[in-house]
Amino acid sequence: MNKLNLLFGRKPLDFIPRFGKSFSVVRSMVLGLTRASPRLPILLQINATSKCNFNCPMCLRQQLRGPAIKSATEMSFKFFKNLVDEIKPLHVALDGLGEPLMFNELPKFIELCRDRGIITSLHSNMLLMSGDKLKSFLKCVPNILTFSFHGATPESFWSVTQTDSFNVCVENFENLLYNIDRRKTQLRIKCALQTKNLQDYGKMFECVKKWGLLGNCFITPVYDYGSKNGVLPTPLDKKRVLGSLEEEIANCDEANKKEFLVKWRNALLNLKSVKEIQETGPCFLPWVSTSVSFQGDVFPCCHLLERGKEYVMGNINNSKFSDIWNGPKYSEFRERLTDNRNGLEACKACTTVDWAMLKNYGFLAFGQSRWKQQK
Ligand SMILES: C[S@@+](CC[C@H](N)C(=O)[O-])C[C@H]1O[C@@H](n2cnc3c(N)ncnc32)[C@H](O)[C@@H]1O
Ligand code: SF4
Ligand code: SF4
Repeated sequence: MNKLNLLFGRKPLDFIPRFGKSFSVVRSMVLGLTRASPRLPILLQINATSKCNFNCPMCLRQQLRGPAIKSATEMSFKFFKNLVDEIKPLHVALDGLGEPLMFNELPKFIELCRDRGIITSLHSNMLLMSGDKLKSFLKCVPNILTFSFHGATPESFWSVTQTDSFNVCVENFENLLYNIDRRKTQLRIKCALQTKNLQDYGKMFECVKKWGLLGNCFITPVYDYGSKNGVLPTPLDKKRVLGSLEEEIANCDEANKKEFLVKWRNALLNLKSVKEIQETGPCFLPWVSTSVSFQGDVFPCCHLLERGKEYVMGNINNSKFSDIWNGPKYSEFRERLTDNRNGLEACKACTTVDWAMLKNYGFLAFGQSRWKQQK
């Protein structure tokens, strides 16, 4: 439903410009040209605030210092509106290096997107989803809302978030579930698999089943930002949990539980350290989306937010977005990604890889793609 909305819009007359933009973006991405679509990206990711009420060890925030995470500055509505009016994205993702519910202007940002027929999405830890915040949130809801639920017991939740707010977050989420119109908002659960929650599969399954969200539950291997934060399990821990999981999968006669356990096992198998990942395949994000911080810096994707000057493509306070999008730095970044992903430290260690998209849409390049095809 969301993919169709994205392409067609909500009104019949939205279809033609949306289709034109999507086609142009998809063609530029499969061609892998250094210049991306002149129609600008489909997805705009914004880092509106750097404030957060959690302290998760796996989060990129742990690696960063200074204004990137300590600033009291937030993205202004005027800045956001100008950006949206220039880029005309089809989807805005309102999360970055902070907790979106700590951002007071969030409802205004969502409302602006809603008025322009733009899909919105965000992740939240749910700690603040109560009282007046909940009331104003319910008046202007995003199209996709993900509860970042990384621990299914108070103990594992504490280890992952460094807060003892398990009961509050669960209660807030259940209250939201009860009050939100599920036809307007798709609810999702995200759990990043890591040392402290490896064994939570049974309890996690019970929670997600109770919430009716088994079909919208994403178990992903934690992304290792390379710090010594203990989020990656030792090979022995991994082996031990894999052993008990395999046994439970073999003995499970409840189809949806089995499916859930298999998802957990697959994520566990893909849990790798930054040194083990040497990804060389295609990544389409720098053709499809862009990520903008409250300081106005433009990054190719949210993984690269504040990861160093090499990944800053330009600043909105000094140039128009369209000049940055197809300017020399973005073009050089795309060229390096297509020809030599290994030379980009952060991209080499990233698990995003778009072979499936290339397989589905590669025909639009009419044999001219710069991406090397998978053998
Ligand atoms: C950076 S957060 C921002 C939104 C919000 N603060 C939250 O946690 O939901 C976006 C999503 O990335 C997840 N995340 C953070 N660090 C991660 C990592 N190293 N690997 C995988 N997911 C991660 C968060 O838990 C959340 O689901
Ligand atoms: S709640 Fe989100 S932004 Fe805050 S530390 Fe955890 S993952 Fe990072
Ligand atoms: S490879 Fe990863 S880090 Fe690099 S642009 Fe793609 S998603 Fe971002």
